[in-house]
Amino acid sequence: MVHLSERELELPDAVIAKLIKMAVEDKSIISLGPGEPDMNTFKPIIKYTKRFAKKCNHYSPPGGRLELKEGIIKKLKKDNKINAGVENIIVTSGSQEALLLAAACSCDVSEEIIVPSPSYMGYISAIELLNINPVLLELKRSNKFEVNPDELKKIIDKKRTKAIILNSPANPTGSIIRRNILEEIADIAVDNDVYIFSDEAYEKITYNKKFVSIGSLNGMHNHVVTLHSFSKTYAMCGYRLGYAVGPRKLIDAMTMSHVYSTIAAPTISQLVGAKALEIKQKYIDKMVETYRKRRDLIVRRLNEMDMDTIMPDGAFYAFSGIRNFDKKSSRFAANLLKNAKVAVVPGVEFGRYGEGNIRCSYATDIKLIEEAMYRIEKLLKHSKST
Ligand SMILES: Cc1ncc(COP(=O)(O)O)c(C=O)c1O
Repeated sequence: MVHLSERELELPDAVIAKLIKMAVEDKSIISLGPGEPDMNTFKPIIKYTKRFAKKCNHYSPPGGRLELKEGIIKKLKKDNKINAGVENIIVTSGSQEALLLAAACSCDVSEEIIVPSPSYMGYISAIELLNINPVLLELKRSNKFEVNPDELKKIIDKKRTKAIILNSPANPTGSIIRRNILEEIADIAVDNDVYIFSDEAYEKITYNKKFVSIGSLNGMHNHVVTLHSFSKTYAMCGYRLGYAVGPRKLIDAMTMSHVYSTIAAPTISQLVGAKALEIKQKYIDKMVETYRKRRDLIVRRLNEMDMDTIMPDGAFYAFSGIRNFDKKSSRFAANLLKNAKVAVVPGVEFGRYGEGNIRCSYATDIKLIEEAMYRIEKLLKHSKST
């Protein structure tokens, strides 16, 4: 008899996985689904991967390799204004694993973590896997999908809330949390003695607004776990490399638990990651400029079609309101897939407050974006006239 746990049975079928499968199988579909860069990783990174290929048959320490941690310390100081020592860092198999470890080591069963919604679909399910309760904080279009500190205060439970997840720049909305708002959130976290898990996976993919790490604010070193990733900045998703920076006690606990999850992040990825931190800024600038051109195009076209789309300040997603066409985002996305052959992600995938929207990724070639917009426009015009 094959038995599956209740926990597993309750996990949502990730629509995104189905979309990717369909888009791979049916070549006529243009996919605006992916949450990963379409570009290859930068040339020097490929060079280092080849160079280190013969040196990586051994495990690395569970907390991460020293040469990488030393690179991370320098990077955090320079880019994020965060002062950390090796004891404050754990290197993980992607930042998703860092989040899972941080949640597992800071919360007991039935305690609560506040999760903004709409937000990255990895949060709610990861938290529920640990039998921790996600409590959703609604992010509103009228507030440009930024966290509202007053609303955050209202849903904190003095006894049960142990952490608040923040994501800036955000997936799927592209919103960046301003410094003054971060300061208010920081005060709330300190007053209520809760952690902030600050997911900064898209820190380098920003367009106009200044990005600030909440971990750099005065007095926050004991309250913030900053989660960073190599996946987006260096287009290194497949290397599965990320890290967390936080209070020593929690990082120690996460390092102990790491031995029982993946033991250590892949050695080759860590060796390459240490070098990636040193690559010239021009590679990242060029990538961001490519995203910026696509962003400008896709946002203009979606708004022209009457899908309310705020110009994203970061990441590579356009998050569009579809209420002028349909109340249900999964039905709307299925219609686009079937009749326009364009794959998008229904907003409801990003938590219940994502309903009424779709996410279009612009980590896709600009010519394909143009064609996808043309197909969607044609379908919507046709539906209106019939
Ligand atoms: C906001 C956000 N955080 C974390 C992740 C996962 O990143 P990693 O590849 O480092 O596990 C993603 C992936 O799409 C994401 O969008």
